[in-house]
Amino acid sequence: MRTVEWDDEKKVVKLIDQRVLPSDPPILECRTVSELIDAIQTLAVRGAPAIGVAGAFGVVLSFKESSTIEEARRKCDELKRARPTAVNLSWAIERVLAAVEDCESVDNAMEKSLDLAKRMAEEDVEINRAIGKMGAKLFEDGDRVLTHCNAGRLACVDWGTALGVIRSCHEEGKRVFVIATETRPLNQGSRITAWELMRDGIPVTLITDSSAAYLMRKGMIDKVIVGADRIVRDAVFNKIGTYSHAISAKRHGIPFYVAAPMSTFDLDHTEADIKVEERDGDELRYFKGIKNAPDGVDVLNFAFDATPLELVDAIITEKGILHPQNGRIEVDRQI
Ligand code: MRU
Repeated sequence: MRTVEWDDEKKVVKLIDQRVLPSDPPILECRTVSELIDAIQTLAVRGAPAIGVAGAFGVVLSFKESSTIEEARRKCDELKRARPTAVNLSWAIERVLAAVEDCESVDNAMEKSLDLAKRMAEEDVEINRAIGKMGAKLFEDGDRVLTHCNAGRLACVDWGTALGVIRSCHEEGKRVFVIATETRPLNQGSRITAWELMRDGIPVTLITDSSAAYLMRKGMIDKVIVGADRIVRDAVFNKIGTYSHAISAKRHGIPFYVAAPMSTFDLDHTEADIKVEERDGDELRYFKGIKNAPDGVDVLNFAFDATPLELVDAIITEKGILHPQNGRIEVDRQI
């Protein structure tokens, strides 16, 4: 199944439960908005486009369980706050709510929001296919490409953004080799990227996060491609560690690419305006329930960082490829 789906019979959101990967993932059914919030916060569903579409289906759940439109909207506000950095979540919820503004009953709003949420799920796949096709032009047969975290099928409804570009390369017959960083502390690289690429037969080598700069120095990486959680006027927000890889790539003259749909752009803001999610310190204090640090140690656990656009060579979108100039992007002029 796809990463996120709606079940018409049960009227629930179905998710591939990513928390257990790389073991076989069960299907998680969210019947209520609060179950969906929990799934988003515990990363059962994760990745900016996937939580966007999950949020769109969450609006449907909010109408299903509310007796008034106002009550449903309050639940949607709560849902929007489930993860603050990836803009796709609030973008998707607002898009669906705007489409049902004229509805006078919760039943009518539920029906209309479901139609749109289903359409958004289909659009996500089409957009990723388009990103893949655009981005594949930047890669050559034999390239060794570093990626960080997981911007693949499981971060989207299907295909992926950064990994979608890699998939498109393979579809076109270009054999691109992926070097996947582990992505501490939640290991989206080792648990998810390595898993999904191996299932597709795409060659992947796993490294620790701290190996990346040394591999670049040794000439073992040709290009870097990552996804994005939010692209503001002067920076790209993505998984913590992305900024270090961008600095290392610049130092070694290696192209650094970002692949993301237009829904990830938030050009009304700059880096300083954005709240970066800080997660529970126990993600570092424990590893799979085993103590990994002394009791009570202070922890700083930012989930994302910001990479200034000076370090980004290209942003691959479904509409075209943007090249930041002097640390800024001008979407209207460039696409
Ligand atoms: O905390 P996560 O796993 O949701 O973080 C995901 C990322 O940082 C991805 O790189 C980003 O959402 C892009 S996904 C296409």
